[in-house]
Amino acid sequence: MAPADNRPYSPGLEGVVAGETSLSYIDGEVGRLLYRGYPIGELVRGGTYDAITELLWTGEWNPAAKLPCAPIPDAVMTALRALPHDARPMDALRTAVSAWGAVTNPSWPPTPEQARALTAFSPSALAAFARLRQGLEPVAPDPELGLVAGFLYQLNGVRPTEEAARALDAYFIVGAEHSFNASTFTARVITATRADIASAVCGAIGAMKGPLHGGAPSEVVEQIHEVGSPERAEEWVREAIANGTRLMGFGHRVYRAYDPRAAALREVAESMANKPDWLELAIAVEDVALRVLAEKHPERALKTNVEFYAAPVLMGVGLVPDLFPATFALARHAGWTAHSIEQGANNRLIRPDVKYIGYWERHVPA
Ligand code: ACO
Repeated sequence: MAPADNRPYSPGLEGVVAGETSLSYIDGEVGRLLYRGYPIGELVRGGTYDAITELLWTGEWNPAAKLPCAPIPDAVMTALRALPHDARPMDALRTAVSAWGAVTNPSWPPTPEQARALTAFSPSALAAFARLRQGLEPVAPDPELGLVAGFLYQLNGVRPTEEAARALDAYFIVGAEHSFNASTFTARVITATRADIASAVCGAIGAMKGPLHGGAPSEVVEQIHEVGSPERAEEWVREAIANGTRLMGFGHRVYRAYDPRAAALREVAESMANKPDWLELAIAVEDVALRVLAEKHPERALKTNVEFYAAPVLMGVGLVPDLFPATFALARHAGWTAHSIEQGANNRLIRPDVKYIGYWERHVPA
């Protein structure tokens, strides 16, 4: 028998403090999210994604900061052209970041300059892949546009409306940073080995690909379409929960209150001229889902998370659902790279312990 190991163990590391950060603060009980002390609602109303990236990387609040999208190095474009058209956009983005790392060979520790360069490159790469898979040529970045408007421009070949750029900017702001979530923790683990910022972001994209983390908004759209009409909502939700289906856009490891990012995005979605026609249905489904989840799980408050209202905002600006996870990854570049910088500045290799539950010592038969 293995010796008894009574050290505390928390499955999924829930509640375990695994580091220190000055980047963001979450109070899951009341639904509060601060980036470097600023409430998320104020940042959405009074900031831009470009300004928020600088705030995260440097700690300075400069509302006039600009981060235009960057051109794609030739070798990366060759890699993107070689991908099959049916490749998942998350895989294409991860491949592009990997190739970017091979071309630029970033040094360690990560710096704000590297964070700017990588965060400005990735939207160009995703937009290029989105066009190549439709048989269209990529569009060169417009240096006059901020990052989010520049992404939409490279995607569609025309400058976005002010309203679309502003709505997607709000989405990027709420997606920018969220403390020690799975992908950010992955980025920190990789940075802590003294690997470069591109490796950290590649790993983070891999971690974000799973539906329990970043893959939910496209599934939100599918679920809403399955529901079909407000009259069917109650029956559909009850049946889904009885079958063990997770309702996409609900529940969170940290939030027990309504996710403040969902609240901010609901406002944006409702104010959009181009909102999808199923937004009203989504609101009806949300009401039913919150009621049924509270009934089924009185022990654990399961509320709306950011992904639920990300879906109508992303659709409203014209993105197709299979681009949603990769678009979330673009927004989270700010947080991943800010955490890489923070980790590198005060580094210690991250190497937790594990409880052994396998065979005790045994021997190969003689
Ligand atoms: N629908 C139905 N039941 C749920 C949901 C849900 N969305 N979320 C949790 N539950 C249930 C679980 O099945 C579990 O029940 P059980 O004990 O009977 O098995 C119980 O509630 C407790 O679950 P948690 O421990 O709170 O779940 P956990 O913290 O492990 O997971 C997670 C959080 C992954 C977000 C989960 O709520 C989920 O799968 N949600 C749906 C997917 C989703 O919306 N993902 C996006 C998250 S936000 C983001 O990453 C940016």
